[in-house]
Amino acid sequence: MKAYEIRDGFGLEKLVSCERPDPTPGPFQVRVRVKATSLNYRDLMMVEGRYNPRQKLPLVPNSDGAGVVDAVGPGVTRVKVGDRVIGLFAQAWAAGEPTRLAQQSTLGGPLDGALADTMVLREDGVVPTPDDLTDEEAATLPCAALTAWSALVTHGALKAGDVVLLQGTGGVSIFALQIARLMGARVIITSSRDDKLERARGLGAHEGINYVTTPDWDKAARALTGNAGVDHVVEVGGAGTFEKSLRAVRPGGTVSVIGVLSGVAGAVPLTSILMQNLRVQGILVGHRQSFEALLRAFSQHAVRPVVDRVFPFDEAVAAFHHLKSGAHFGKVVIRVG
Ligand SMILES: NC(=O)c1ccc[n+]([C@@H]2O[C@H](COP(=O)([O-])OP(=O)(O)OC[C@H]3O[C@@H](n4cnc5c(N)ncnc54)[C@H](OP(=O)(O)O)[C@@H]3O)[C@@H](O)[C@H]2O)c1
Repeated sequence: MKAYEIRDGFGLEKLVSCERPDPTPGPFQVRVRVKATSLNYRDLMMVEGRYNPRQKLPLVPNSDGAGVVDAVGPGVTRVKVGDRVIGLFAQAWAAGEPTRLAQQSTLGGPLDGALADTMVLREDGVVPTPDDLTDEEAATLPCAALTAWSALVTHGALKAGDVVLLQGTGGVSIFALQIARLMGARVIITSSRDDKLERARGLGAHEGINYVTTPDWDKAARALTGNAGVDHVVEVGGAGTFEKSLRAVRPGGTVSVIGVLSGVAGAVPLTSILMQNLRVQGILVGHRQSFEALLRAFSQHAVRPVVDRVFPFDEAVAAFHHLKSGAHFGKVVIRVG
C-alpha cells in the first residue's frame, strides 16, 4: 500500500511518501481502499508537532477518509466487500459521553489515518456513504461537519430563530453555516476577506463581518441583535477570540469551545462567564450516533459539502501548504484512489 508518513520528526518537510505491506483485516475489522481524504487544521498541527509533540512516529496523518471496502475479517456483519464507507474520526465512540478509550481511538493520531490508499478500521468504525455524495464530498465530513453538528445540535440544542455567530470560513465554520441554516437559525459570520463573506452570504449567511477591518466584531455582532447578544458562538479562533466571543453572546447563551487557530492558552474571564450565566461547552468532534444523524439530515436537505479544491495524492504536501495559507473556503480534499 501507498501512504504518507510523518517519520523522522515533525514538519511539512518531514511528510514523506512510502510503501507499506498491504494489511490484512483481523476479526471485526474491514479493509478500506481509500478514494479521498480531506484536511483539517488538526492534521496540519499533527504534522507540525503542535497537536501532540509526544505523538509516536511514524504516523500516517489525516482523520478523514472515504472509500470502498475490499476485504473483511472474521465475524464482520455490518458491512460487506464493495460497500462505500466513511471512516469515523473516533473509531471507538458509538454514543454518549466520551471515554478515554474513545479519545484514544482517533484516526490520524494516535491511530494511523487516511493519507494512504488503504486503511484497516473497525467494522463499527465505518458508516455507509450516502448515495448522493461523491467520495470526495464524503471525505470532508467525519471531523469538521461532525464537530459543527455536535456543537450546534447534539450539545447546542439549536432551534429555529436562534442567532449563531461563526468565525472565519474554514471547514468547521462553513459546515456550521450549512447546519445552522437547515435548523432555521440566523447566521452571522466573520472573515478576514470580504470576497469570502460574499460567498458565505451565497450559502445563506444573513450577515458578515470582516474581523480585520472591524476588530470589534463582537460589538458589531451584538449590534446586529439589537445589543441582545447572539444565542450561540462556534468558537474556532481560540485564545485570540475567546474573550470577544464571551462578549458577543447573550446572557445564558452558549460558547462552543472548538478551535485554537490563534493560540491555545489565555486568561479566562471567569466573571463574564458566571455573571452572564454562560454555557461554555468543550467539543471534541463527536460520536457515531451524531454522525449518522448528520448524514440523514444532509441527505434529506440535499446539503452538499463545500469543496474548495481537490489535490492529487502526489501533491499532498502542497495541499497542506494551501490549508496553512488560509486561502481556502470550506474543505481541502486530496484524491487518493
Ligand atoms: N475540537 C474539535 O473537535 C475540533 C474539530 C475540528 C477542528 N477543530 C479546530 O477548529 C479550528 C478550525 O479548524 P478547521 O479545520 O475548520 O480550520 P481551517 O479550515 O483551516 O480554517 C481556517 C480559517 O479560519 C479562519 N481564522 C483563522 N484565524 C482566525 C481568527 N483569529 N479569527 C477568526 N477566524 C480565523 C480563517 O478564515 P477567513 O479566511 O475567512 O478569515 C481561516 O481561513 C482549528 O483550531 C481546529 O484545530 C477542533
